[in-house]
Amino acid sequence: MEGNKTNINWYPGHMARARREMTEAVKLVDVVVEIIDARIPISSRNPVLNEIIGKKPRVIVLNKSDLADKKQNQKWIDFYKKDNIVAVEVDSSHGNSVKNVTDAIYKLMSDKIEKHEQSGRVGASIKTMVVGIPNVGKSTFINKIAGKQTTAVGNKPGVTRKNQWVRLNEKIQLLDTPGVLWPKFDNEQIARHLAYIGTIKDEILDVDELALHLIEELMQNHKKELFGRYKIDENFEYDMSYEIMDEIGRKRGCLVRGGEIDYTKVANIVLDEFRSGKIGLITLEEVNMK
Ligand code: G4P
Repeated sequence: MEGNKTNINWYPGHMARARREMTEAVKLVDVVVEIIDARIPISSRNPVLNEIIGKKPRVIVLNKSDLADKKQNQKWIDFYKKDNIVAVEVDSSHGNSVKNVTDAIYKLMSDKIEKHEQSGRVGASIKTMVVGIPNVGKSTFINKIAGKQTTAVGNKPGVTRKNQWVRLNEKIQLLDTPGVLWPKFDNEQIARHLAYIGTIKDEILDVDELALHLIEELMQNHKKELFGRYKIDENFEYDMSYEIMDEIGRKRGCLVRGGEIDYTKVANIVLDEFRSGKIGLITLEEVNMK
């Protein structure tokens, strides 16, 4: 069901409507919080957002940073800094790193906050909204950043009725409905990367093929992690990459009658364990690949 819910956003009519709604909503905010997945910072961004938000200040959130390579997280932050864009690494599901985002908003909006304070406008707030492609963690982030103390402050004109504002603190208000951007499928590599992290649901994919591609990609830069996880000898010899799947199948006992390898079972194990960071904290898209 979740897959259907997500896919519906990708139909052209829905995309056009979502884009119109987001363009309207963006007009109401001072700063946009763009959530991306730290493991695939290129494929999890949709450049259409640049057109929608124009020159409006933004904070890029490298979410799920707990599943990515720490050094790469910092490299991406430095990369954006060179472009004068503030990026912060966040793990929305645990910890307090979401606070880094409010700090970044304060910093970006310091002139406006100072003006409010000087003019003595009590309750005047910085307005912000969260946007991103499906599954990057927008709802988790909003729940975490809004916490328990939030109060709905009512509808504003120009936003869909279901859109509510929540007050994060005396300075910041947040549109509590995230803006959903559609993923871009400019090439097979992007589509695959989105599938590896679970943005494209497995029901509509050939998981055996997907896992094989993931294994091939991991073999390029993360052989040690992959072989380590599945206890494959570092000198293991193979001609074709599916032989690595065979070996994982043997190690994990994924066999069907007659001793054949159950590839779908192996594929699901590899994909699940990659997604949950068990193979390693791996950033598939590094700054120097940009
Ligand atoms: P969305 O609104 O952008 O579509 O994403 P959502 O918040 O629903 O998050 C998608 C999945 O990603 C959820 O897992 C969520 O728990 C997980 N997630 C969000 N942020 C982080 C993060 O910073 N780190 C990690 N490790 N996971 C994160 P799920 O499997 O769909 O559900 P569940 O595991 O929470 O039950």
